[in-house]
Amino acid sequence: MTAPLDAPEPADKPGIVFRTAGLTRRFSGFTAVNNVTLEIPEGGVRTIIGPNGAGKTTFFNLLSGLLPPSEGRMWFRDREITTLRAYQRARLGIARSFQITNIFGRLSVYENVRLAVQAVHDGKASFFVPRGSMGNLAEKTERVLHDVGLYDVRDARAENLSHGDQRRLEIGLVIASDPPVLLLDEPLAGMSPTETQETVDLIQRISPGRTILLVEHDIDVVMAISTTITVFQTGAVLAIGTPQEIRGNEAVQRAYLGELA
Ligand SMILES: Nc1ncnc2c1ncn2[C@@H]1O[C@H](COP(=O)(O)OP(=O)(O)O)[C@@H](O)[C@H]1O
Ligand SMILES: [Mg+2]
Repeated sequence: MTAPLDAPEPADKPGIVFRTAGLTRRFSGFTAVNNVTLEIPEGGVRTIIGPNGAGKTTFFNLLSGLLPPSEGRMWFRDREITTLRAYQRARLGIARSFQITNIFGRLSVYENVRLAVQAVHDGKASFFVPRGSMGNLAEKTERVLHDVGLYDVRDARAENLSHGDQRRLEIGLVIASDPPVLLLDEPLAGMSPTETQETVDLIQRISPGRTILLVEHDIDVVMAISTTITVFQTGAVLAIGTPQEIRGNEAVQRAYLGELA
């Protein structure tokens, strides 16, 4: 049986990349994420905003498996991941940046990226590259360096990079595994306006074919690059919508975005 031409096949509907049900995380009595039930569609830049302490980072930690929930369940696509460890979720393609701490400062930019590419290749990080895979590794490494705009500084020691370049290297280490889903927690923090613009361009460049979950404070950037915005307040979801819908949402304006009116 064929579907009428004007009716989209079920496969054309965007899937759901993450689904949570009653997701809750408490820290000794304090509820950081409070009974969050939501669906995040596949693809695009899915941004989470909200005041400091709203639970955004904790929510990311729950999705990536860094923290177990106190209550509730979560699914990645069709698969329940509630009890999966972080490395198991990473294997499913859920990658999150861990900030500058996983950069090897004394190695070159190139070596850092190559190690990350190789880690996926081998299932472990090693300097000893198997014969035959060298060309492929070098090619992938160079592609990532181009993607994140660090090709020209590939021979610099990572510790000598500017703050903005280190943040870009951090994103490079994440995309080295070519993950379908990326969680970026305030990737623009501490960046100069130029670095911010370059990194926004980078996020847009790597977003086709991927889902990017982004936590960001810079509201101009958020409005410009988000496919949808989810507003967190005191551990709960206050609103979800397109940038236009969020801008026009009275509850959001009252609680958080007064300056956008
Ligand atoms: N490991 C922790 N132990 C105790 N409290 C925490 C911990 N992590 C986060 N919190 C608290 O949970 C709340 C939400 O924090 P967080 O998720 O970092 O918020 P956001 O990223 O939106 O600023 C904050 O009040 C914070 O102090
Ligand atoms: Mg945070």
